Amino acid sequence: MKGVILAGGTGTRLAPFTKVINKHLLPVGPHPMIYWSVKKLENAGINDILIITHDDHLDNFKKILGNGNDLGVNITYKIQPYAGGIAHGLLYAKEFIKKEKFIFMLGDNIFEDSLLPYVKNFINQDEGAKILLKNVEDPERYGIATVNKITNQITSIVEKPQNPLSNLCVTGIYMYDDEVFEYIDYLKTSDRGELEITDINNVYISKEKLSYEALRGWWIDAGTHNSLFIANQLVYKELNKLRTDDNE
Ligand code: G1P
Repeated sequence: MKGVILAGGTGTRLAPFTKVINKHLLPVGPHPMIYWSVKKLENAGINDILIITHDDHLDNFKKILGNGNDLGVNITYKIQPYAGGIAHGLLYAKEFIKKEKFIFMLGDNIFEDSLLPYVKNFINQDEGAKILLKNVEDPERYGIATVNKITNQITSIVEKPQNPLSNLCVTGIYMYDDEVFEYIDYLKTSDRGELEITDINNVYISKEKLSYEALRGWWIDAGTHNSLFIANQLVYKELNKLRTDDNE
């Protein structure tokens, strides 16, 4: 399976730094934020990776990650010409993916779980898509899923709900079949002027082709100053634990 990481957007919630640097290159632990997505893919056996970003930042990504050799992966790049939303960014992966299933990640999501079991389950899924959910305390910030307790199926996803019906956040870790590109072609821009990934996931729900699993470990969207700080704390805690284990 191939992997696609979206590193676009304007990163306004991390201004003023994002006036001069792409959000996904800001430090999380001793690495740029996007390193963690690349490593999660590599650990799940996904070595063929496309990074989608804006033209302004492409050179910086290439300077830091290059062709992925040092990280044990093969990285190629594609430009998203403007910040038209997550589903808009995904369109630029069409040529790279061709007719395969793939994993699509937002480069600002930092998390503890290994992707391997979820990827394996998706490979065994006949068709459709799979998303990963996580319970959060601030559901107004995210895409929020409602699950039917009897059928255990997702019945709807609402993007940044004012009156959330649950605390189940749709994380930025998505697995799709190649039909996703057709669905994006039919999307209309949302009120915030973007092609929304939530609208795509709702198409899969309407076709009864969206499965889900819940992440077990911690998860954070590092897109604000406060959450970036917490992401750093979580990552350093993990790294220090590894160091202590090594010394024992
Ligand atoms: C995006 C998605 C949202 C998802 C979140 C996860 O939000 O639109 O559905 O829950 O990523 O990180 P954004 O970062 O664009 O506000």
